[in-house]
Amino acid sequence: MSDKTIPTAVLKSPITSSQSPLSQPEQHVAIIDHNRCLSASRLLRCPTCLNSWRRCAEPGAASPLYPLPNRSQSKTLALKKAHPVIIHNRELLPSSFLRSSVSSVTSWKDFGMLCPTSMIVYYNGQYLQKFEVAISPDDRGFLFADGVYDVIRSYRSKLFKCVEHLERLAHGLKALRIEGLDTRSLEQISHQLIRNNKLEEADALVYLQVTRGAAPRSHQFPPSGTPLTVYVEAKAFSPPVEQQQNGAAAILEPDQRWSRCNIKTIGLLPNTLAHQRAREAGAFEAIFSGDGLLQEGSHSSILFVEKDVLICPPLTNRILPSITRSVVIDLALAESIEVDTRSCREGELFEFDEVMMLSTSAEIVPITSVNGRKIRQGYVGPVTRRLQTAFRRVIGPNEIKNLD
Ligand code: PDD
Repeated sequence: MSDKTIPTAVLKSPITSSQSPLSQPEQHVAIIDHNRCLSASRLLRCPTCLNSWRRCAEPGAASPLYPLPNRSQSKTLALKKAHPVIIHNRELLPSSFLRSSVSSVTSWKDFGMLCPTSMIVYYNGQYLQKFEVAISPDDRGFLFADGVYDVIRSYRSKLFKCVEHLERLAHGLKALRIEGLDTRSLEQISHQLIRNNKLEEADALVYLQVTRGAAPRSHQFPPSGTPLTVYVEAKAFSPPVEQQQNGAAAILEPDQRWSRCNIKTIGLLPNTLAHQRAREAGAFEAIFSGDGLLQEGSHSSILFVEKDVLICPPLTNRILPSITRSVVIDLALAESIEVDTRSCREGELFEFDEVMMLSTSAEIVPITSVNGRKIRQGYVGPVTRRLQTAFRRVIGPNEIKNLD
């Protein structure tokens, strides 16, 4: 269902705060046809205010995550009973409330209740609903991609290699000369977000981003003391189990990134363009080839196997020091798998016995074809399988999935 198919109605006159419990009257109301939403599998967006909305499990049932700010319990109950319901300015209203104020509606029948996507995030010292975050258009992240980010995996509340991720974030900040944040403070915030969003039992990703803050656009740094923009969110995540099991396809892409890829900056346009091309080619990931060498994926690192030896491209300025990669190299050594660090030429790709991509989110995914051509016979190799098994042991018994 496309956003265009969501009917909207325009109010004859704005609702004033004396008429309604809304704090900020708006002209537009999104009216969402419940039947059609039931068949929609993706998140919907209110076409006027562009907030995301999520369908409730059942018509008329309030989502446990749905925020109903500033409402008394009795009003909340009354609203829950009211059916149909429309959404206006992020709040639920019984349709009867607006019926008299709306100039045209298609049908009041079958309108159900939708909920805004509720997520508590951290933004500059506060825990807020995500839709409450207002980042300045002067933010240097927005203007110049002047910031760094990191992604940490939470396995049932356990932040995997959290210290290493936060140290990498600190190195990135230092490299960009962004001062004034002790990244260690983000660990407690990440845990808090896991709790706030009820992700304690889930597999989740924590996304952290820090920018140089907001200041009128100038290539010069803002005056010292300008507050940084610090944003953290945690969301449920499902790993690509199918690809982990059966392998995935990749494409080769010319490496058009800048020369400091070892810093995890938010400037990711060459990465997103390469990944998009991979997806359009039906592949899972794009592998960057630069200076004739295989570097890394658009958002993953790569390792190879040659005659039972794990081959690791050296960590140069063209490669992000991947946390997953360092875990896997340690695991290989612990498994008595020989490890060799050397540059890998693009022409060697199809001579390797195994190719694997690694990342916080994907963990270890075997690459079984590149540009439509199989790596060996297109089977997942034994070294990759051993490393997957060892990795599962490290992340904990809760996450063990049967890949055999
Ligand atoms: N990406 N190389 C690049 C360019 C990456 O963006 C990533 C991670 C990796 C793997 O790093 P790690 O093992 O520390 O996750 C390598 C993250 C997950 C992302 O952009 O979402």
